[in-house]
Amino acid sequence: MNSTPTLQKLPAEVVSLTDHEQYARQHLDDNAWAYFSGGAADEITLQANRSAWDALTLWPRVLRPLAGGHTRVSLLGRTLAHPILLAPVAFQRMAHKDGELATAYAAAALGAGLVLSTQASMPMEHIAQAVLSDAGRGPLWFQLYLQHDRGFTQALVQRAEAAGFEALVLTVDAPTSGIRDRERRAHFRLPPGMGPVNLAGLAPAPATPLQPGQSALFDGLLHQAPTWDDIAWLKSITRLPVLLKGVLHPADATQAVACGADGLIVSNHGGRTLDTAPATAVALPKVIQAAAGAVPVLVDGGIRRGTDVLKAMALGASAVLVGRPAVYGLANAGAAGVAHVLRLLRDELEVAMALTGCKTLEEAPQVLQPD
Ligand code: FNR
Ligand code: LAC
Repeated sequence: MNSTPTLQKLPAEVVSLTDHEQYARQHLDDNAWAYFSGGAADEITLQANRSAWDALTLWPRVLRPLAGGHTRVSLLGRTLAHPILLAPVAFQRMAHKDGELATAYAAAALGAGLVLSTQASMPMEHIAQAVLSDAGRGPLWFQLYLQHDRGFTQALVQRAEAAGFEALVLTVDAPTSGIRDRERRAHFRLPPGMGPVNLAGLAPAPATPLQPGQSALFDGLLHQAPTWDDIAWLKSITRLPVLLKGVLHPADATQAVACGADGLIVSNHGGRTLDTAPATAVALPKVIQAAAGAVPVLVDGGIRRGTDVLKAMALGASAVLVGRPAVYGLANAGAAGVAHVLRLLRDELEVAMALTGCKTLEEAPQVLQPD
C-alpha cells in the first residue's frame, strides 16, 4: 500500500464496460474471478439486473435545443458533475495490488462518488486522506456492516467520521451471505495477507453452544443481525447522513423513511444475496413511489451503459452506483482502468442524453414510454 499506483496500458479493443469484463477474465485467477463475477445460486437475479435495463426502451425526442447541456445533479446538498458513484466492493487488492486506493484516485479524478466497503482491504484513513483534498472529487461515503459487537461498530463509525467520510451506507440485504455456488466450486478463499483490515481487533462473535435441533443460522449468526431498531441507534450515534442499501420492497422504503433514513439505495447486492429477488430496474419505480420524494433514491445492479444510467434517472433515481465494472477496470489497468470505466460510462451518458433530447437529467423522464 505504500507503493505508487501503477499505470498500465489497456488494449485499444477495450471500448465498453463489457469489454472490460471479458478482458478482466485474463487478469484474475479462478479464485478471484469466482468471487468478483459470481452471483447467488442460479444467478437469476444477477442476469435479471442486466436484462431489466435492456428491456426498457428509450423514446427519443428530436430537435430539442441541447447546447449548454450537462450531466450535473444534486445529491444530499451537493452538486455532482454526474450521477455515477462506485459501489462498495470488498477486498479490492485481490483484483490489483493498488486495491481501493487506485479505485479512490480514479473516482476522484473523474468526479465520481466512492463508497468504501467495511470489508475493504486497505485502511479507510489512507483512502480518505488520498482524495479528501481533491476539489473535483465526488462524495466519499463509508459502507457499514453492523458488527456483532455494537461497541466496535460505534468505534468504526467514529473512525469513518474522523477520517472525513461524508455519509454512512448501511447495507441491509445481507444478514447472511447468499448461496454462492460459483465460489464453492472454485474452493474460494481469501489469499494469504488479504482481509478486512478495518475490522482488525474485532473479537469473534461469542459462540453460543447450539442445543440439539437448533440452527447455526437462526440460533447463532442471526442473533447479531441488524433490525429496524438499529437504524434509530445508528442515527443516534452519528452526525452523518445514513443511507440504507439493499431496499427492494416498497413497504421497507416507507418504513426506512419513517425511521429517519436519509437516503435509499435500491440494490440486490448485484445478485449476490437472495437469488430470484427482483431486478433493480423493476424495484426502483416502486421504491421511488413509496419514498414519495422524502429522501433521495439511488440504484445499482447491472448498470453497464450510459443508456442504463439515463434509464435509472428517467425512473426517478437521484444517482447510480456501479460495482463489478470498476473492479474489472482495476484488474485490467489499476487506477487507469477504473478511470477508463468511469470515463466510458460518463461519455456514454452524455451521448444518450444528446440522442434522446435531454439537455439535463431533470428532463430524463421524457424518454420513458409515452402512455
Ligand atoms: C459487492 N457488494 C457489496 N456491497 C456492500 O454493501 N458491501 C460490500 O462489501 C460488498 N462487496 C461486494 C463484493 C463484490 C465482489 C461484488 C460484486 C459486490 C455489492 C455492491 O456494492 C453492489 O451492490 C453491486 O455490485 C452492484 O451490482 P453490479 O454493478 O456489480 O452489477
Ligand atoms: C460480498 C460481501 C462482502 O458481496 O458484501 O462479497
